Amino acid sequence: MLDNILSTAMQKIAEVTDLESLQHIKAEFLGKNSQINAEMKKLGIMDGEERKIFGQKINQIKEQIQYSLNAKSTKLEEQQWDQVFLSEKLDLSMPSRPFSKGSIHPITQSLAELVQIFASFGFQVKEGPSIESDWYNFTALSIDENHPARQMHDTFYLKNGQLLRTHTSPMQIRTIESGPPPFKFICPGRTYRCDSDTTHTPMFHQIEGMVIDKNINMGHLKYVIAETIKQFFEQPNIEVRFRPSFFPFTEPSAEVDLRFKGNDSWLEVLGCGMVHPKVLQNCKIDSEEYRGFAFGLGLERFAMLKYGIKDLRQFYEGDQRWINHYNFASLDIPNIVNGLTR
Ligand code: PHE
Repeated sequence: MLDNILSTAMQKIAEVTDLESLQHIKAEFLGKNSQINAEMKKLGIMDGEERKIFGQKINQIKEQIQYSLNAKSTKLEEQQWDQVFLSEKLDLSMPSRPFSKGSIHPITQSLAELVQIFASFGFQVKEGPSIESDWYNFTALSIDENHPARQMHDTFYLKNGQLLRTHTSPMQIRTIESGPPPFKFICPGRTYRCDSDTTHTPMFHQIEGMVIDKNINMGHLKYVIAETIKQFFEQPNIEVRFRPSFFPFTEPSAEVDLRFKGNDSWLEVLGCGMVHPKVLQNCKIDSEEYRGFAFGLGLERFAMLKYGIKDLRQFYEGDQRWINHYNFASLDIPNIVNGLTR
Protein backbone atom coordinates (compact mmCIF):
# COMPACT_ATOMS: atom_id res chain seq x y z
CA MET A 1 0.00 0.00 0.00
CA LEU A 2 2.58 2.55 1.13
CA ASP A 3 4.87 1.72 -1.77
CA ASN A 4 1.95 2.22 -4.10
CA ILE A 5 1.30 5.67 -2.69
CA LEU A 6 4.96 6.58 -3.05
CA SER A 7 5.25 5.49 -6.66
CA THR A 8 2.00 7.26 -7.68
CA ALA A 9 3.22 10.43 -5.98
CA MET A 10 6.61 10.25 -7.65
CA GLN A 11 5.05 9.74 -11.03
CA LYS A 12 2.67 12.67 -10.64
CA ILE A 13 5.47 14.94 -9.44
CA ALA A 14 7.60 13.92 -12.40
CA GLU A 15 4.82 14.65 -14.86
CA VAL A 16 3.57 17.98 -13.53
CA THR A 17 4.56 21.09 -15.53
CA ASP A 18 3.29 24.03 -13.50
CA LEU A 19 3.53 25.25 -9.92
CA GLU A 20 -0.19 25.41 -9.30
CA SER A 21 -0.74 21.73 -10.12
CA LEU A 22 2.26 20.95 -7.94
CA GLN A 23 0.42 22.58 -5.03
CA HIS A 24 -2.55 20.27 -5.65
CA ILE A 25 -0.26 17.26 -5.60
CA LYS A 26 1.16 18.39 -2.30
CA ALA A 27 -2.35 18.63 -0.83
CA GLU A 28 -3.27 15.27 -2.30
CA PHE A 29 -0.37 13.39 -0.74
CA LEU A 30 0.57 15.30 2.38
CA GLY A 31 -2.68 17.09 3.26
CA LYS A 32 -5.23 16.26 5.94
CA ASN A 33 -7.33 14.01 3.71
CA SER A 34 -4.42 12.20 2.12
CA GLN A 35 -4.09 8.45 1.97
CA ILE A 36 -0.93 8.69 4.07
CA ASN A 37 -2.89 10.37 6.82
CA ALA A 38 -5.41 7.52 6.68
CA GLU A 39 -2.54 5.00 6.89
CA MET A 40 -1.13 6.83 9.91
CA LYS A 41 -4.39 6.29 11.79
CA LYS A 42 -3.67 2.56 11.64
CA LEU A 43 -0.71 3.15 14.01
CA GLY A 44 -3.19 3.34 16.87
CA ILE A 45 -4.22 -0.27 16.58
CA MET A 46 -0.67 -1.63 16.05
CA ASP A 47 1.61 -2.71 18.80
CA GLY A 48 5.32 -2.64 19.65
CA GLU A 49 7.74 -3.55 16.89
CA GLU A 50 5.17 -3.48 14.09
CA ARG A 51 4.17 0.00 15.03
CA LYS A 52 7.80 1.18 15.09
CA ILE A 53 8.58 -0.18 11.64
CA PHE A 54 5.37 1.10 10.09
CA GLY A 55 5.89 4.52 11.65
CA GLN A 56 9.42 4.79 10.28
CA LYS A 57 8.25 3.73 6.88
CA ILE A 58 5.54 6.39 6.79
CA ASN A 59 7.99 9.07 7.85
CA GLN A 60 10.44 8.01 5.17
CA ILE A 61 7.77 8.15 2.52
CA LYS A 62 6.57 11.56 3.65
CA GLU A 63 10.12 12.88 3.63
CA GLN A 64 10.74 11.49 0.19
CA ILE A 65 7.59 13.04 -1.21
CA GLN A 66 8.39 16.36 0.45
CA TYR A 67 11.91 16.28 -0.96
CA SER A 68 10.68 15.59 -4.47
CA LEU A 69 8.07 18.33 -4.19
CA ASN A 70 10.74 20.84 -3.19
CA ALA A 71 13.09 19.81 -5.96
CA LYS A 72 10.34 20.02 -8.55
CA SER A 73 9.18 23.38 -7.25
CA THR A 74 12.69 24.83 -7.60
CA LYS A 75 12.95 23.45 -11.10
CA LEU A 76 9.59 24.86 -12.18
CA GLU A 77 10.44 28.29 -10.75
CA GLU A 78 13.68 28.34 -12.68
CA GLN A 79 11.83 27.42 -15.85
CA GLN A 80 9.38 30.23 -15.21
CA TRP A 81 12.21 32.76 -14.89
CA ASP A 82 13.85 31.48 -18.05
CA GLN A 83 10.59 32.15 -19.80
CA VAL A 84 10.44 35.69 -18.43
CA PHE A 85 14.03 36.46 -19.41
CA LEU A 86 13.45 35.08 -22.85
CA SER A 87 10.41 37.26 -23.42
CA GLU A 88 12.17 40.39 -22.08
CA LYS A 89 15.21 39.98 -24.26
CA LEU A 90 16.51 43.36 -25.49
CA ASP A 91 17.40 43.89 -29.09
CA LEU A 92 20.36 46.23 -28.74
CA SER A 93 20.54 46.79 -32.46
CA MET A 94 17.14 48.55 -32.51
CA PRO A 95 17.28 52.29 -33.27
CA SER A 96 16.46 54.47 -30.24
CA ARG A 97 13.23 56.45 -29.92
CA PRO A 98 13.41 59.93 -31.49
CA PHE A 99 14.36 62.60 -28.93
CA SER A 100 12.54 65.86 -29.42
CA LYS A 101 13.19 69.02 -27.49
CA GLY A 102 10.88 72.03 -27.36
CA SER A 103 12.20 75.47 -28.22
CA ILE A 104 11.28 79.12 -27.87
CA HIS A 105 9.69 81.06 -30.75
CA PRO A 106 11.46 84.34 -31.58
CA ILE A 107 8.36 86.31 -30.53
CA THR A 108 8.32 84.69 -27.09
CA GLN A 109 12.06 85.23 -26.81
CA SER A 110 11.85 88.92 -27.79
CA LEU A 111 8.97 89.46 -25.36
CA ALA A 112 10.97 87.90 -22.53
CA GLU A 113 13.91 90.16 -23.37
CA LEU A 114 11.79 93.33 -23.40
CA VAL A 115 10.02 92.37 -20.16
CA GLN A 116 13.47 92.06 -18.55
CA ILE A 117 14.42 95.56 -19.65
CA PHE A 118 11.14 97.21 -18.61
CA ALA A 119 11.21 95.38 -15.29
CA SER A 120 14.63 96.88 -14.64
CA PHE A 121 13.02 100.34 -14.99
CA GLY A 122 10.39 99.29 -12.44
CA PHE A 123 7.47 98.67 -14.81
CA GLN A 124 4.81 96.20 -13.68
CA VAL A 125 3.58 93.64 -16.19
CA LYS A 126 -0.17 93.44 -16.81
CA GLU A 127 -2.38 91.49 -19.14
CA GLY A 128 -5.74 92.38 -20.63
CA PRO A 129 -8.53 90.73 -22.63
CA SER A 130 -8.38 90.16 -26.40
CA ILE A 131 -12.12 90.81 -26.71
CA GLU A 132 -12.93 94.42 -25.94
CA SER A 133 -15.82 96.83 -26.10
CA ASP A 134 -15.99 99.81 -28.39
CA TRP A 135 -15.62 102.02 -25.34
CA TYR A 136 -12.27 100.66 -24.17
CA ASN A 137 -10.77 100.17 -27.61
CA PHE A 138 -11.88 103.51 -29.08
CA THR A 139 -14.22 105.91 -27.32
CA ALA A 140 -12.42 106.21 -23.99
CA LEU A 141 -9.23 106.83 -25.95
CA SER A 142 -10.90 109.79 -27.69
CA ILE A 143 -11.35 107.88 -30.91
CA ASP A 144 -15.05 108.66 -31.35
CA GLU A 145 -17.58 107.29 -33.81
CA ASN A 146 -16.60 109.36 -36.83
CA HIS A 147 -12.92 109.49 -36.19
CA PRO A 148 -10.85 108.47 -39.25
CA ALA A 149 -8.67 106.32 -36.97
CA ARG A 150 -11.58 103.87 -36.66
CA GLN A 151 -11.40 103.11 -40.34
CA MET A 152 -7.62 102.94 -40.20
CA HIS A 153 -7.76 100.19 -37.61
CA ASP A 154 -9.56 97.62 -39.81
CA THR A 155 -11.39 96.21 -36.84
CA PHE A 156 -12.71 92.66 -36.52
CA TYR A 157 -16.20 93.02 -35.05
CA LEU A 158 -17.99 90.21 -33.25
CA LYS A 159 -21.71 89.47 -33.66
CA ASN A 160 -22.49 90.75 -30.17
CA GLY A 161 -21.06 94.19 -30.98
CA GLN A 162 -17.77 93.60 -29.20
CA LEU A 163 -14.49 93.56 -31.10
CA LEU A 164 -10.98 92.09 -31.11
CA ARG A 165 -8.74 94.77 -29.70
CA THR A 166 -6.85 96.57 -32.46
CA HIS A 167 -4.15 97.69 -30.05
CA THR A 168 -3.16 97.19 -26.40
CA SER A 169 -4.13 100.78 -25.53
CA PRO A 170 -7.47 99.76 -23.93
CA MET A 171 -5.31 98.64 -21.02
CA GLN A 172 -4.43 102.31 -20.47
CA ILE A 173 -8.08 102.95 -19.65
CA ARG A 174 -8.60 99.76 -17.64
CA THR A 175 -5.57 100.61 -15.54
CA ILE A 176 -6.35 104.28 -14.92
CA GLU A 177 -9.88 103.26 -13.89
CA SER A 178 -8.58 100.62 -11.51
CA GLY A 179 -7.24 102.88 -8.82
CA PRO A 180 -5.40 106.02 -7.88
CA PRO A 181 -2.14 106.95 -9.66
CA PRO A 182 0.83 106.60 -9.85
CA PHE A 183 0.93 103.87 -12.56
CA LYS A 184 3.92 102.38 -14.25
CA PHE A 185 3.21 99.28 -16.26
CA ILE A 186 3.60 97.47 -19.52
CA CYS A 187 0.96 95.25 -21.07
CA PRO A 188 2.15 92.78 -23.68
CA GLY A 189 -0.42 90.90 -25.72
CA ARG A 190 -2.05 89.90 -28.96
CA THR A 191 -3.75 92.49 -31.14
CA TYR A 192 -5.86 92.03 -34.27
CA ARG A 193 -6.46 93.93 -37.49
CA CYS A 194 -8.08 92.79 -40.71
CA ASP A 195 -4.95 93.25 -42.76
CA SER A 196 -2.48 90.86 -44.42
CA ASP A 197 0.59 91.58 -46.55
CA THR A 198 4.39 91.43 -46.16
CA THR A 199 4.31 93.97 -43.33
CA HIS A 200 0.97 93.07 -41.70
CA THR A 201 -0.55 89.91 -40.19
CA PRO A 202 -4.15 89.79 -38.91
CA MET A 203 -2.81 88.89 -35.46
CA PHE A 204 0.29 90.55 -34.11
CA HIS A 205 1.73 91.59 -30.75
CA GLN A 206 2.07 94.91 -29.05
CA ILE A 207 3.53 95.99 -25.77
CA GLU A 208 1.67 98.91 -24.27
CA GLY A 209 3.58 101.03 -21.79
CA MET A 210 2.28 103.72 -19.51
CA VAL A 211 3.57 105.96 -16.74
CA ILE A 212 1.25 108.32 -14.85
CA ASP A 213 2.62 110.42 -12.03
CA LYS A 214 3.23 113.99 -10.99
CA ASN A 215 5.88 115.90 -12.99
CA ILE A 216 6.28 113.43 -15.84
CA ASN A 217 7.57 114.99 -19.04
CA MET A 218 8.56 114.05 -22.56
CA GLY A 219 12.20 113.69 -21.52
CA HIS A 220 11.23 110.65 -19.44
CA LEU A 221 9.48 109.14 -22.44
CA LYS A 222 12.45 109.65 -24.73
CA TYR A 223 14.86 108.23 -22.19
CA VAL A 224 12.83 105.06 -21.55
CA ILE A 225 12.34 104.41 -25.28
CA ALA A 226 15.92 105.15 -26.33
CA GLU A 227 17.40 103.16 -23.47
CA THR A 228 15.11 100.19 -24.10
CA ILE A 229 16.11 100.11 -27.76
CA LYS A 230 19.79 100.38 -26.90
CA GLN A 231 19.60 97.52 -24.41
CA PHE A 232 17.38 95.32 -26.56
CA PHE A 233 19.59 95.40 -29.64
CA GLU A 234 22.78 94.89 -27.61
CA GLN A 235 24.84 96.70 -30.23
CA PRO A 236 25.55 100.36 -31.14
CA ASN A 237 24.78 99.86 -34.82
CA ILE A 238 21.14 100.89 -34.56
CA GLU A 239 19.70 104.33 -35.32
CA VAL A 240 16.58 105.71 -33.62
CA ARG A 241 14.36 108.48 -35.01
CA PHE A 242 11.45 110.24 -33.24
CA ARG A 243 9.03 111.56 -35.85
CA PRO A 244 6.12 113.87 -34.98
CA SER A 245 2.81 112.07 -35.43
CA PHE A 246 -0.77 112.02 -34.25
CA PHE A 247 -2.82 109.82 -31.94
CA PRO A 248 -6.16 110.99 -30.52
CA PHE A 249 -5.12 109.90 -27.01
CA THR A 250 -1.67 111.52 -26.82
CA GLU A 251 -0.49 115.07 -27.27
CA PRO A 252 2.17 115.62 -28.43
CA SER A 253 2.58 112.31 -30.25
CA ALA A 254 5.50 110.72 -31.99
CA GLU A 255 6.39 107.63 -33.94
CA VAL A 256 9.71 105.92 -33.55
CA ASP A 257 11.58 104.44 -36.50
CA LEU A 258 14.65 102.23 -36.42
CA ARG A 259 17.28 101.24 -38.91
CA PHE A 260 20.70 99.66 -38.91
CA LYS A 261 23.49 102.07 -39.87
CA GLY A 262 24.19 101.80 -43.57
CA ASN A 263 20.66 100.67 -44.43
CA ASP A 264 18.48 103.22 -46.11
CA SER A 265 14.98 102.14 -45.10
CA TRP A 266 13.49 102.99 -41.72
CA LEU A 267 11.13 100.59 -39.99
CA GLU A 268 8.35 102.04 -37.89
CA VAL A 269 8.29 100.18 -34.58
CA LEU A 270 6.44 102.25 -32.03
CA GLY A 271 3.87 104.98 -31.38
CA CYS A 272 4.03 107.13 -28.30
CA GLY A 273 3.22 110.46 -26.71
CA MET A 274 2.16 112.36 -23.62
CA VAL A 275 -1.20 111.08 -22.35
CA HIS A 276 -3.94 113.47 -23.50
CA PRO A 277 -5.62 115.30 -20.58
CA LYS A 278 -9.01 114.23 -22.00
CA VAL A 279 -8.10 110.56 -21.41
CA LEU A 280 -7.32 111.29 -17.77
CA GLN A 281 -10.52 113.30 -17.39
CA ASN A 282 -12.52 110.45 -18.98
CA CYS A 283 -11.34 108.36 -16.05
CA LYS A 284 -11.92 111.10 -13.46
CA ILE A 285 -8.28 111.84 -12.79
CA ASP A 286 -7.18 115.40 -12.14
CA SER A 287 -5.21 116.23 -15.27
CA GLU A 288 -3.76 119.34 -13.60
CA GLU A 289 -2.09 117.22 -10.94
CA TYR A 290 -1.20 114.12 -12.93
CA ARG A 291 0.28 113.61 -16.34
CA GLY A 292 2.09 110.81 -18.07
CA PHE A 293 3.35 109.18 -21.17
CA ALA A 294 2.33 106.09 -23.08
CA PHE A 295 3.68 104.01 -25.90
CA GLY A 296 2.70 101.02 -27.95
CA LEU A 297 5.43 99.01 -29.60
CA GLY A 298 5.19 96.39 -32.31
CA LEU A 299 6.84 93.25 -31.01
CA GLU A 300 7.20 91.55 -34.42
CA ARG A 301 9.02 94.59 -35.80
CA PHE A 302 11.49 94.54 -32.91
CA ALA A 303 12.11 90.81 -33.37
CA MET A 304 12.53 91.14 -37.16
CA LEU A 305 15.18 93.81 -36.83
CA LYS A 306 17.11 92.06 -34.08
CA TYR A 307 17.06 88.58 -35.57
CA GLY A 308 17.20 89.46 -39.28
CA ILE A 309 13.75 88.08 -40.13
CA LYS A 310 12.66 89.37 -43.52
CA ASP A 311 8.99 88.51 -43.89
CA LEU A 312 6.57 89.16 -41.06
CA ARG A 313 4.19 86.41 -42.18
CA GLN A 314 6.80 83.71 -41.57
CA PHE A 315 6.31 84.13 -37.82
CA TYR A 316 2.95 82.40 -38.05
CA GLU A 317 3.32 79.93 -40.89
CA GLY A 318 4.57 77.19 -38.58
CA ASP A 319 7.21 76.05 -41.09
CA GLN A 320 9.39 73.61 -39.14
CA ARG A 321 12.53 74.59 -41.05
CA TRP A 322 11.98 78.25 -40.23
CA ILE A 323 11.35 77.43 -36.56
CA ASN A 324 14.49 75.29 -36.41
CA HIS A 325 16.49 78.17 -37.83
CA TYR A 326 15.16 81.00 -35.67
CA ASN A 327 14.23 79.27 -32.39
CA PHE A 328 15.91 79.65 -29.02
CA ALA A 329 17.01 77.13 -26.40
CA SER A 330 14.20 76.66 -23.95
CA LEU A 331 16.33 76.89 -20.80
CA ASP A 332 18.23 79.99 -21.92
CA ILE A 333 16.15 82.52 -20.06
CA PRO A 334 17.05 86.15 -20.84
CA ASN A 335 18.32 88.29 -18.01
CA ILE A 336 20.04 91.64 -17.94
CA VAL A 337 22.93 90.43 -15.80
CA ASN A 338 24.18 87.68 -18.11
CA GLY A 339 22.92 89.26 -21.33
CA LEU A 340 19.58 88.90 -23.08
CA THR A 341 20.74 86.48 -25.76
CA ARG A 342 23.51 83.95 -25.84
N1 PHE B 1 -2.07 102.27 -29.89
C1 PHE B 1 -1.27 102.92 -30.89
C2 PHE B 1 -1.26 102.08 -32.16
O1 PHE B 1 -1.59 100.91 -32.10
C3 PHE B 1 0.14 103.12 -30.41
C4 PHE B 1 0.25 104.07 -29.28
C5 PHE B 1 0.18 103.61 -27.97
C6 PHE B 1 0.43 105.43 -29.48
C7 PHE B 1 0.31 104.48 -26.90
C8 PHE B 1 0.57 106.29 -28.43
C9 PHE B 1 0.49 105.84 -27.17
O2 PHE B 1 -0.91 102.53 -33.22
